[in-house]
Amino acid sequence: MSRGAKKQFLVTNDCRLIDLPKINDPRGSLTFIEGGRHVPFEIKRVYYLYDVPGGAERGGHAHKNLREFIIAMAGSFDVVLDDGRQKKRMHLNRSYYGLYVCPMIWREMNNFSSGAVCLVLGSNLYDESDYYRNYDDFIKALPSV
Ligand code: TYD
Repeated sequence: MSRGAKKQFLVTNDCRLIDLPKINDPRGSLTFIEGGRHVPFEIKRVYYLYDVPGGAERGGHAHKNLREFIIAMAGSFDVVLDDGRQKKRMHLNRSYYGLYVCPMIWREMNNFSSGAVCLVLGSNLYDESDYYRNYDDFIKALPSV
């Protein structure tokens, strides 16, 4: 198999930044998100991280089926994506785009600025059985290429 062909199996390539609509106005900007239109799934859940102390790390898990869309609503932070073969660090710092994270991606979030707010839209309700919280278990569950 050529190097190029092998690259197609990198799941991190399915994760991507998605621009959101932005209505500019002298009174302030407005951005909206419609499930199935601006994000590639119907939105079933919203949660947010805030009051994150300096140096804290969040994430440290992967999901079997859950799809998520992550937005820096205020401040900034990094999301490190890992598909078991490749890692990508994404820096989020604007509320008019977000990061789509597909299933079977180990993610870690760090480098939170003071006052950062991380909004996450999810394709499903919270389900602990959808998590891999152990990195070795996640790696073992990946399809071998
Ligand atoms: P977790 O998903 O591990 O957070 P993070 O990825 O930001 O580190 O969740 C932290 C805790 O919150 C864990 O005990 C599960 C709980 N939780 C819910 O009860 N409902 C939810 O929707 C989420 C996302 C987490």
